[in-house]
Amino acid sequence: MPGRSVHDIAHRFPPPGSFRFAIHPRLPDRGRVNFLALIEAKRDGATLPESTIREAIAACTSGTIPDYQLAAFLMAVYFKGLNTRETAALTLAMRDSGDRLHFPADPRPLVDKHSTGGVGDKVSLPLAPLLASLGLRVPMISGRSLGITGGTLDKLESIPGFQTALPASRIVEIVQSIGCIICGQTERMVPADRILYAMRDVTGTVPSIPLIVASILSKKLAESLDALLLDVKFGGAAFMKTTSQARELAQAMVQLGNTCGTRTIALLTDMDTPLGQAAGNWLEVCETVACLENRGPADLQELVLQSAAHLLVLTGKAVDHPGALARARERLLSGAALRKWEEMLAAQGTDLDRYHALLAQGQTAPDSACLTATRGGFISRCDARILGEVIRNLGGGRLTRDSIINPSVGIDCIAKPGTAVRTGDLLARIHAADTASAVAAVDALSPAFQIADAPPAPAPLIAEIIHP
Ligand code: URA
Repeated sequence: MPGRSVHDIAHRFPPPGSFRFAIHPRLPDRGRVNFLALIEAKRDGATLPESTIREAIAACTSGTIPDYQLAAFLMAVYFKGLNTRETAALTLAMRDSGDRLHFPADPRPLVDKHSTGGVGDKVSLPLAPLLASLGLRVPMISGRSLGITGGTLDKLESIPGFQTALPASRIVEIVQSIGCIICGQTERMVPADRILYAMRDVTGTVPSIPLIVASILSKKLAESLDALLLDVKFGGAAFMKTTSQARELAQAMVQLGNTCGTRTIALLTDMDTPLGQAAGNWLEVCETVACLENRGPADLQELVLQSAAHLLVLTGKAVDHPGALARARERLLSGAALRKWEEMLAAQGTDLDRYHALLAQGQTAPDSACLTATRGGFISRCDARILGEVIRNLGGGRLTRDSIINPSVGIDCIAKPGTAVRTGDLLARIHAADTASAVAAVDALSPAFQIADAPPAPAPLIAEIIHP
């Protein structure tokens, strides 16, 4: 019964005093939201008023909603959905549940990029300094790994001394002086999302488009951005398994982002295959540096440059995409983005001597093992989901929120679809904490690769661009 209001529904229920005593989500005598009525209304498909959603989020943030009611409400939303106005109200209420970042007036636009997550997706690391080198400000508030998808903060924390937890005043200071920062949400930013996300994670309510939209956009809107680029992944290792699911999510976020005053577009990109040739926290930092030094890999460099170009056009800093792309490429090739990266590392506490020593060493895990081709041909499949599972099981990701990450484990030298191989050629190199887990990982990784007689049709890096 979508589209009915809570007030319409109230007429169908017995008057106050009977056991179904109230459907209107306010209890005037207690002066705060009646969460049970809210759950019942959404369960029955009603449309919730904006003021009710605001009150509910305020109550949730202040900790007055019992967990069982929050869980029931999220499940009701999971099944009945939220319309565009409800989703907007939820997003803005969540954004306003804590502090927002405020930046001084400055001709440099404020921009960010958000990816829905994947395996080997380290685009944020080289992109933030590249954008700063192009004269944009980038307050990039990022997250941690969960399940098989990697987390930007976990990758950066593999760098000696790098600090991801910074107060808002320091975030603003670093963005104003360096041009970019990549850090975690402060304790006081969007607390409602922290509470709701933790509950969704343990109640099977993460894959709900309105809840994902509100969760992602509330955090991005709290950064006071001028422009936002969304990278919505689809495929076996992504939240959204199909292009049409990814498109639906992207369209909802693009529409709402623009309605809320942030110029927003989305790219739909493939996550059946990992991005780049390395996955695992420290290995991805090494690949970031390779990208910033113009040593590839080609798909990573291309997505970084394309993302920068879209943000230049979106902020009016470039008039067209080809011109924007050429400028981004020039900044990368000149070493300007690499210099910004090191400035950002230093500003965020990195011990640059130790960092350079580790970089010279390359991989840092105690043991390694190689997976090789058992026949010749062309790689036709390199399954990102299996790679993600292997890395997580090696200790590179989280099985629970409290799991301790091993920064040095992972997989590199990944042979990507289309590569010609002969029997015995390297398909992937595994870095592990000990020999037994390296050997077990080779077995687990083997089904990720398929070899065919002919190369597969090349898949575009960016499948679609979603505009408002
Ligand atoms: N990332 C988020 O921040 N929130 C979601 O709900 C899903 C992905």
